[in-house]
Amino acid sequence: MTIVINMRDGVDERGIRIAARLILDGKLVAFPTETVYGLGADALNARAVKRIFEAKGRPADNPLIIHIADFDDLGKLAREIPEEAKLLAEKFWPGPLTMVLPKEEGVPDVTTGGLDTVAVRMPAHPIALALIRASTPIAAPSANISGKPSPTLAEHVIDDFYGRIEAIIDGGETRVGVESTVIDLTSERPTLLRPGGLPLEEIEKVIGEVEIHPAVKGKLVDVAKAPGMKYRHYSPNAQVIVVEGKRENVRRKIAELVREYRSRGLRVGVMATERHEADEFFHLGGTEEEVARNLFKALRELDRRGVDVIIAEGIEEKGLGFAVMNRLRKAAGYRIVWA
Ligand code: TXA
Ligand code: MG
Repeated sequence: MTIVINMRDGVDERGIRIAARLILDGKLVAFPTETVYGLGADALNARAVKRIFEAKGRPADNPLIIHIADFDDLGKLAREIPEEAKLLAEKFWPGPLTMVLPKEEGVPDVTTGGLDTVAVRMPAHPIALALIRASTPIAAPSANISGKPSPTLAEHVIDDFYGRIEAIIDGGETRVGVESTVIDLTSERPTLLRPGGLPLEEIEKVIGEVEIHPAVKGKLVDVAKAPGMKYRHYSPNAQVIVVEGKRENVRRKIAELVREYRSRGLRVGVMATERHEADEFFHLGGTEEEVARNLFKALRELDRRGVDVIIAEGIEEKGLGFAVMNRLRKAAGYRIVWA
């Protein structure tokens, strides 16, 4: 049985006590953070954490982020806290920044996917912080079935996990909409492992130049040259195609693709920052913040409306645009059309 705890109007102490008890009993509780919803379990309870992997269908070697509410808890999880980590925590915690540090012995191997490093962040959400304070550090991946778009509404979590986890705290829509930025501080130079809710530019203002892990850049290929690419992530059921390039060209190209796919009898959805004629349309908003906030919702919503193809407008890769384009390209399995 899954209980849904309503906290749309803010932190409810009674609800927090119930959810905290479940966490301490080794159960799974989904909760909102400022980025996306997390699927939480006691980070130091190996059996509880194992259930997260089973529920999500997540490969065991993909490690989880541990969420804390007080900086002092970091000392129990990380063997060493480099100067950069202190500077970044000071400036950006609580917030959408995850730091990878050397792991302390007490952290179970399941939590870190067998690595000797641990990823930690302090979320900037009153419900998440209250839940952690009332229980313990919480390991939580995004609360979606592996491979699906991350959840930004409790409804998304209900769609994926209702009946399969003990509780879902409904805190309404998440503010940032893309997951945290992940930075590795155990390598020679600070290295970006995942662009996310905290722009890289902000991090570099504090610790100087950050290396970008090659995997972040992914594979950028022209769809025409690789029509059969199967790699999928953040993926709805519909095939996603991203259109990138100069704004006016992108607008024209999207219109052209809509006509082309419709003429083949397909139902076409468009997600973009300006209006388009299509079978279904989702307006992403005007600013990069709005696009980030709406991105995963748009993918899930267009899917729900039963389109065969989703054509997504690419945005500039600066600020939050870096995280947005990283998610979009993956959702599209790198089917990118250059306009
Ligand atoms: O915003 C977020 O980060 C959300 C909310 C719930 O906090 N969580 C989230 O978790 O996105 P997840 O599991 O979907 O993504 C965690 C990412 C993965 O890419 C994982 O490989 C990486 O963090 N990660 C975790 N521990 C790591 C480690 N020790 N070394 C390298 N990467 C790590
Ligand atoms: Mg995830």
